[in-house]
Amino acid sequence: MKALPETIIPGQPITALAPMQDVTTLPFMRVIGQCGAPDFFFTEYFRVHSTSTLETHILSSITDHSTGRPVFAQLIGESLPDLERTVALLKPYPTAGIDLNMGCPAPKVYKKNVGGGLMRDPDKVEGIFECLRNAVEGRFTVKMRIGFDSTEHYERILDLVNQYEIDLLSVHGRTVKEGYRSEVHYDFIKVAADQCHCPVLANGNILSAEKAADVLNYTGCAGVMIGRHAIRNPWIFRQIREYLSGVAMFVPELQDVRIYVDWIFDATNEPDLSESRHLGRMKKLLNFVGLGVDPEGEFLRTMRRAKTRQELLSICDTYMVDDSQASQPFALEPYDGLVARPNCEVPHQPGTLRAALLG
Ligand SMILES: Cc1cc2nc3c(=O)[nH]c(=O)nc-3n(C[C@H](O)[C@H](O)[C@H](O)COP(=O)(O)O)c2cc1C
Repeated sequence: MKALPETIIPGQPITALAPMQDVTTLPFMRVIGQCGAPDFFFTEYFRVHSTSTLETHILSSITDHSTGRPVFAQLIGESLPDLERTVALLKPYPTAGIDLNMGCPAPKVYKKNVGGGLMRDPDKVEGIFECLRNAVEGRFTVKMRIGFDSTEHYERILDLVNQYEIDLLSVHGRTVKEGYRSEVHYDFIKVAADQCHCPVLANGNILSAEKAADVLNYTGCAGVMIGRHAIRNPWIFRQIREYLSGVAMFVPELQDVRIYVDWIFDATNEPDLSESRHLGRMKKLLNFVGLGVDPEGEFLRTMRRAKTRQELLSICDTYMVDDSQASQPFALEPYDGLVARPNCEVPHQPGTLRAALLG
């Protein structure tokens, strides 16, 4: 097994920004870097199939990455020759490692037996692990869920993780079929941390520094990987470092969030992008940010109705800087009952996860 890059504070648990398709672009990673980088970044997934090439916008998040932190290149696919070919294509570039996606729950993906679809076929996983272990000269890492529609293959796949000397394992503690709705099964993540020879990152609903510390204590994981809650609160990685060091934690105010809005406004824009597509990208991110703006969810409801960029920004002004809003604290956890993506998520249940974790 190869040693991992050093963390920002040597000896602290690892923090990682979870890969998120159409979100963790190069400009977004840079914004996160400005707020307080995680130890590791992961790219959006490179699709691997018979005619695939390296998508240039994803490649740029490796070649032009300027946060100073290592970035792992994620692949999604199942064809062994094409996986080998893609590893060779990536060889000249400064990746921290090659990461295999075994978690994507989108039906159009798992029906092709890639992403989360692999979790129902451990024999196929073995073939891919063997192929990639031989092809990848540096670190070979895996991101997986705990199963497809049950956890029947979980232990076998963890054995394969050991057998093929995977260098880092990230576990999203839900089955593929559980999508983003169920509670996260931290007990299964703990099994991975107990059994695997490599460092394990706990992933799923880690929504604050305090929750990160609880999950680390409970699971014994080497670190945490955070996705949606880093969109909502881009300071979360810095807060985790501060919390674990026992120093005062940065608590953003709504005026800090308004500045973040300007940064993501630029990060989601492109020279020829239409206003409506830019608005769509912004609303996708603000759906998460809005979980911490006001307890009634008025910002979320109003923002979702904005028809122009100007209107959207002035709504942000209203809720974040006007009328003495500026110095209001930004909630460290989502307000009760609010939900970013009503079609695929359920509201955060305050207290229950912590209570369950602490038994
Ligand atoms: C918009 C979006 C895109 C995602 N894209 C990817 C991806 O490209 N690769 C991957 O392994 N996981 C992907 N995921 C899953 C996340 O990496 C992560 O496992 C999941 O969101 C749970 O972590 P969280 O509760 O911290 O968000 C995506 C999740 C979201 C919300």
